[in-house]
Amino acid sequence: MKSIVILISGRGSNMESLLGAAATGALPVTVAAVISNRPDAKGLETAAAHGISTRVVDHRQFSSREAFDEVLAGVIDSFSPDLVVLAGFMRILSDGFVTHYEGRLINIHPSLLPSFPGLHTHLRALEEGVRVHGCTVHFVTTALDHGPIVVQAAVPVLDGDDEASLAARVLVQEHTIYPLAVRWFAEGRLRLIDGRVEFDAPQASEGALISPLARISP
Ligand code: GRF
Repeated sequence: MKSIVILISGRGSNMESLLGAAATGALPVTVAAVISNRPDAKGLETAAAHGISTRVVDHRQFSSREAFDEVLAGVIDSFSPDLVVLAGFMRILSDGFVTHYEGRLINIHPSLLPSFPGLHTHLRALEEGVRVHGCTVHFVTTALDHGPIVVQAAVPVLDGDDEASLAARVLVQEHTIYPLAVRWFAEGRLRLIDGRVEFDAPQASEGALISPLARISP
């Protein structure tokens, strides 16, 4: 069984969806640890309640990004994970860190990349007036929020949406596609080769594009 380490900074709902799927056996992984850069991250309590080892590497105690990343990598590597899963981890990672985990570091981002990298994605989607929004799981590269895409889920933007309602609609899909992507990796069906995503099985069999709310009322 493959093992994963999950990195969080806050609420940890994506982490929880992974822990839940792992607990039922739907996701065939061992969660070796959950690591937060913030001691007050709510997700740490959730992880502990699931009986998962937790660690804190507080970025405020380091004078440089590189120094923080080096200690973080040391803690991660002490668990020897096959895959490092960023789940609402709100730190920009140094090139050295990203290169060290090339092909075994994935992230979930709350937009249909390459649209809306960075912060406040739902607000920006509303401001731009897009009619389709969503979320993306991607391998992490040195370009922020811009790695090779593994899976996306699309949702409609509905009249009357505000930032909270749109975020909530996207979050439901995040909790579906992240366990799916991690499962593909755990089953050895997904890998990064020369900067490109490779699947063993046709993606279409499980839906690389999930559009659960295709029907929009007139
Ligand atoms: C999610 O929207 C995720 O896509 C983004 O940050 C948010 C984290 O939420 N990277 P949670 O901590 O998983 O609840």
